[in-house]
Amino acid sequence: MSERELGFPKNFLWGAATAGHQVGDNVNGGSDWNRFEELNAARLAHEAEPDKDYGNGPLPQDVWQRVATEAKDPRNYISGEGAGWWRGYWQKDLDIAADLGLKAVRFSIERAQVQPTPNSEFDPVALDRYKKLIQGAKERGIEPVATLFHFVNPQWVAEGGGWENPDIVDNFQKYVGQLVRELDGEVSYFLTVNEPEVYTLQGWLLGEWLPQKTNDLRGAFKVRKNLIEAHKRSFDAIKEIDDTTSVSAAVNLSHVEAKSRKISDRVGKVITQKLSNGMFLPKMVDHMDYVGMNQYMHNVKRGINPQTGLFQNEGEPRSDFGWYLNPESLYHVLMGLKKYNKPIIITEHGLADATDQNRAWFIRESVNQILSARADGADVRGYLHWSLVDNFEWDKGKWPRFGLIGVDYETQERTVRDSAKEYARIIKSVG
Ligand code: BGC
Repeated sequence: MSERELGFPKNFLWGAATAGHQVGDNVNGGSDWNRFEELNAARLAHEAEPDKDYGNGPLPQDVWQRVATEAKDPRNYISGEGAGWWRGYWQKDLDIAADLGLKAVRFSIERAQVQPTPNSEFDPVALDRYKKLIQGAKERGIEPVATLFHFVNPQWVAEGGGWENPDIVDNFQKYVGQLVRELDGEVSYFLTVNEPEVYTLQGWLLGEWLPQKTNDLRGAFKVRKNLIEAHKRSFDAIKEIDDTTSVSAAVNLSHVEAKSRKISDRVGKVITQKLSNGMFLPKMVDHMDYVGMNQYMHNVKRGINPQTGLFQNEGEPRSDFGWYLNPESLYHVLMGLKKYNKPIIITEHGLADATDQNRAWFIRESVNQILSARADGADVRGYLHWSLVDNFEWDKGKWPRFGLIGVDYETQERTVRDSAKEYARIIKSVG
């Protein structure tokens, strides 16, 4: 039986995702991430080593051997022109996306580019470029999905206290309102904020991203409150301007399992699940037309302490980051969203895989899991693979390769990976 018969609607949003700073939206006045890079590149290169925790523990041995030279080079940690989108390479990538049969591309509009100085008029050149990107997608038959905050602030916002300062709520809402009016109905899908969970964890608890605070629970709670409020208020602002648009946020959800039936593992699972999935979405979901959901992690929990015994997934293949590849976990997370009775769009899902050995089967199996979830009642309307194109992976820099399209950063030459061709075949077979 074909996938189509098993239930993918014709208008299912098959696509891929990107984010501005990660593909080189990076020229105007500087963002807080540019500053982070300047201050931290040398340190990050120095500290890079195979034993470091890359989110699921150390890197697989063979990966470290392959990437060590890049990972030890400070230039790896400077985003620079990245995949060259500011220089127009978005056109090339959208051409490839269209050839692959993608129906949607997610990108972010970077406030540091659009509004480089405090609450100023929008920079017409920056605004025009994003309008051209949106237009360019539509001309190619691709639905643009626009994120409004993907981890990067203008430096002036950061200096004003960033997401810890409650003023950000009002300020962000005004910015969003102004921006959406400028876009004049051309975007049908918005995501207000990306992964509030990850942003708060990395910046205020683990201290790996800006503002590099460690175990700052008070700060984390302030940020959480402001992100939730900013999402809700922006949702209302967008709907007031154009109630035909679909608006959500991209939350990050993990599938958490107990290692065994032991009571400590089961209690540990509940605590971990609450901390990883329950801190944002339940507070935001009333202000969502659809649930935008990023999923990467399968956590098998051993013991009660939420910080120990994670990711002990013996036997599962791993990505270049050492993240466990378990397509079935997507099914479980989707089923967990059924209770909200909203359409679901998978706004990110993917893997670092420079040699492209795992991406094709991972996509194929994940599509099967989406089919099963749809058959079991989860109203999934789209799948945006992370990522359309190789990009700058935050504090890990350029060596992790998440793209369906490979990039040579020296020449900006593109390679369409075999897994992208497999994804194209899947889309064709269901479309
Ligand atoms: C983020 C992306 C990131 C991806 C892979 C998500 O947490 O939204 O910006 O590149 O995961 O790590």
